[in-house]
Amino acid sequence: MEAGVTWPEPEGATRVQHLQVYRYDPDSGRNPRIDTYAIDRDKCGPMLLDALIKIKNEIDPTLTFRRSCREGVCGSCAMNIDGSNWLACIRSLDEINEPATVYPLNNMDVVKDLVGDQTHALAQYTSIKPWLRSKTPAPTRERLQSPEERKRLDGDYECILCFCCTSGCPSHWWNGDRFLGPAVLLQAHRWLVDSRDEATGERLDELEDPFKLYRCHTILNCTRTCPKGLNPGKKIAEVKLMIQQRRS
Ligand code: SF4
Ligand code: SF4
Ligand code: FES
Repeated sequence: MEAGVTWPEPEGATRVQHLQVYRYDPDSGRNPRIDTYAIDRDKCGPMLLDALIKIKNEIDPTLTFRRSCREGVCGSCAMNIDGSNWLACIRSLDEINEPATVYPLNNMDVVKDLVGDQTHALAQYTSIKPWLRSKTPAPTRERLQSPEERKRLDGDYECILCFCCTSGCPSHWWNGDRFLGPAVLLQAHRWLVDSRDEATGERLDELEDPFKLYRCHTILNCTRTCPKGLNPGKKIAEVKLMIQQRRS
């Protein structure tokens, strides 16, 4: 690490929030550093994302981060806040430390500052073929589901692919080249339980692998860090059970 920049305190502010933000530009040839920014809470929106936007607009336009929806539905603003992965747009400034630390998601190459490289994670997602696989000719209208069939997707469909869970999973840190990680395995579960999908056997064949699935050791970091309140660890256990049940 090299010495970071400490930016000036806001003039006349009575409520100041300090943010220690990871800064790294791989193209610069320089080492990473931690810059410290001071925000006047009375002139800032309520969320951490508001503070980052304020820094970019008013203090330091070189700060780079990813965001889109600003309401917890796109997954773009996932980052490590005070040591835990979460979405900046739904983390209130009232909930963070003073000073707070803001780092990119761990276990991802850094594109710049708070932006992690999702290339590998998305390639793993593509590998499970996350689309409807059906041999039955498509009906002229929707493929219908009963309310009970639709309910089986609860706890899966809400996933926004922010990768907070995968980034926090120790098994993915050590074996991320072959272990699919909690986000992708939760998505695999989503297709396994979809009544309209007709490739359940193939999907289980593809997952029955000592690394892709069985590197999950039920440490449950994933469940603890999911900002949507989902339980990928439980879904992974259900996939393991489906494989076990078809053996017996
Ligand atoms: S339960 Fe499995 S997927 Fe979740 S953090 Fe632990 S090892 Fe990773
Ligand atoms: S399971 Fe939760 S933490 Fe993981 S990618 Fe989906 S929304 Fe994000
Ligand atoms: S900006 Fe979309 S989830 Fe935060």
